[in-house]
Amino acid sequence: MTPVTARLPRSAQPDTAAPLLRTARLTLRLPDARDLDAYAAFFADAQASHFYGGPLRRDQAFGVLCRDIGHWSLRGYGKFAVTRNGATIGGCGIVHPDGWPGRELTWWLLPDARGQGLAREASVAVLAWARDALASAEVETHFRDDNDAALRLTRSLGGRRLRRAVFPDGVARDIHAIPTDGVAA
Ligand SMILES: CC(C)(COP(=O)(O)OP(=O)(O)OC[C@H]1O[C@@H](n2cnc3c(N)ncnc32)[C@H](O)[C@@H]1OP(=O)(O)O)[C@@H](O)C(=O)NCCC(=O)NCCS
Repeated sequence: MTPVTARLPRSAQPDTAAPLLRTARLTLRLPDARDLDAYAAFFADAQASHFYGGPLRRDQAFGVLCRDIGHWSLRGYGKFAVTRNGATIGGCGIVHPDGWPGRELTWWLLPDARGQGLAREASVAVLAWARDALASAEVETHFRDDNDAALRLTRSLGGRRLRRAVFPDGVARDIHAIPTDGVAA
């Protein structure tokens, strides 16, 4: 069957092409079916995914993976799969869900991948890409008040608190700005 986009004029085709980003320890790429087991493991772990909408069943994790892939089509940017030595260890990218305040740096890592500076390493690559591809001097991030790991990571990326807002899910969170320029690796 002909793909739907093949029938659209070229100018109307969404740009789904995520670049390949490489760092010293990581490769970041467009999420795909290879990432499902890592998504399912992360969301099955209630503690690991507590701040990221978990726990979720495998079929629900499949839905999150579909959403992450589809975001690239709708927005032209999105979340990368973060891989190390060929294995998926998490996700990191820029997302903007409809109705939420703005372009947001977001991350998750499997528990075994935490505490090694890997989220920060992925973030530095994503921020440099966002600076050039999205022409954004800064992006935002937000998280629950008791998410200490996300706050430490935000501060290590030069983040500063901007304001507090109530989000579409009814939860109030601080919003931080993170510069895309000049974050040291
Ligand atoms: C948020 C999250 C991605 C942070 O992961 P992380 O591994 O703590 O973050 P970093 O990659 O910046 O690693 C920093 C830690 O690694 C340590 N570290 C070890 N080696 C390091 C290195 N070479 N370079 C930098 N840090 C290093 C740091 O000391 C720091 O430890 P600390 O947190 O105990 O102070 C992770 O906690 C997570 O997946 N949480 C669930 C999802 C979530 O809450 N997302 C955000 C909400 S939207």
